[in-house]
Amino acid sequence: MALTEKEIVCFDQDGYVIFRNLFSEKEVDLLRREAARIADLETECVIREGQTSKPKIMLRMHDEQSPTASPAYIAASRLPRILGSAIQVLRTKNLYIHHSKINMKSAIEGSVWPWHQDFGQWHLDGITNPDLVTFMIMLDDATEFSGCLYFQPGSHHLGRIEPQWDETTAYKFYSTPTDAVKKSFETGRQPIAVTGRAGDAVLFHCNLLHASGQNLSAEDRRQVYFCYNKTANRPQNIEEPRPEHVRSTNWNAVPLEEDSALLVNSC
Ligand code: SIN
Ligand code: MN
Repeated sequence: MALTEKEIVCFDQDGYVIFRNLFSEKEVDLLRREAARIADLETECVIREGQTSKPKIMLRMHDEQSPTASPAYIAASRLPRILGSAIQVLRTKNLYIHHSKINMKSAIEGSVWPWHQDFGQWHLDGITNPDLVTFMIMLDDATEFSGCLYFQPGSHHLGRIEPQWDETTAYKFYSTPTDAVKKSFETGRQPIAVTGRAGDAVLFHCNLLHASGQNLSAEDRRQVYFCYNKTANRPQNIEEPRPEHVRSTNWNAVPLEEDSALLVNSC
């Protein structure tokens, strides 16, 4: 079992669980090397920002059909430590990946993600129920200086707040309206900084309010995200769906592999 009973209760109460030292140095090194390889690819799965055109987001590494396909990330998405935790909190083995990404908040230039709930966008992708979770892995130490995530604990209990299209950031997306965020801070718990070391990881609910600031440090801040959805909750047909790299139509359940698979299958 990946999560203890206590961690499952915390997830239900707070909307997230943090795992310290979940990945070894060797595993983190492998994922970093793959991230560096993918960063050089010219494809729509790599979205760039800033004067140096460094990648802001690299997507779809988990999918064999993708130009960014990576054996290491495919193996990672199947580990009991990751997929097993998602299975436990979503209470079904039938999970597929709605999308995967490496958010590379590059030194000095890596910019803000305003407050949002992931399910704000994902519902617009045609997904009916908030039965998705994200598993995030830190590939670098994440500090407030380097643009770590912030969570508002317990905010997933608010349910989905209608988002607004936000043009203020390098990557345009749906954020939560300011008045709704302020109200949630006035009535709910205080936000926390999700700082940690390379190899730490976090599981969080798709309705949890989260954000991150500018990376003002001289080091890149890379974080990997696997977003799991129940196969039974796959998107309905919608007009003008977003592309495959952000809204997957590969709805095959992800198979669980051994915890050693990351190093064994990818080297
Ligand atoms: C996100 O919320 O999807 C990304 C935030 C970050 O990586 O800083
Ligand atoms: Mn998000």
